[in-house]
Amino acid sequence: MEGPICIYGNPVLRKQSEPVKKVTEEIRKLADRLLDIMYAGEGIGLAAEQIGRTEAIFVLDVPAEADKNAQGFPNNPGVEMPQAFINPEIIGSSEETAIAEEGCLSFPKLYIPVERPAEVVVRYLDRNGNVQVLNAKGLLARAIQHELDHLHGILLVDYMTPATKLQNMLLLRNLKKQSRNIK
Ligand code: NI
Repeated sequence: MEGPICIYGNPVLRKQSEPVKKVTEEIRKLADRLLDIMYAGEGIGLAAEQIGRTEAIFVLDVPAEADKNAQGFPNNPGVEMPQAFINPEIIGSSEETAIAEEGCLSFPKLYIPVERPAEVVVRYLDRNGNVQVLNAKGLLARAIQHELDHLHGILLVDYMTPATKLQNMLLLRNLKKQSRNIK
């Protein structure tokens, strides 16, 4: 498998990503590599910074069966997966929020509850360079916001309350140590 995933403590995870000027073959290859590494890590999303790159791009493959509403219907019918989101931007979000546990491939074994808008509208370029606008709810909305955070250097740890931080102090310290050893 190509390239390890950058673990919490690696400074690249705090960087602000740079917009992609043109969606080239190289960018498509980067999207494919992100997907490969994401699948190997059994994740549903991965941002470029997590493999040490600063292009504004993330990929998602949110399984439809894991993204259903209380009535058991798909939250986002007709949305194709996997997808690459290039230069993504949230252009609308619901006032209604939802709280759910999130994990992150850069924080192995850490799961913390995060409150986010329940629905978002995201505008982005697809892998062909076409502008797309997507209305997302449920797990997809959450995953989009989580990955977009990565592109702005915002991490799961930033959503922790002082109490959860204290609870997970040892785990976080070990991750930082681990990330120093990889380099
Ligand atoms: Ni993440």
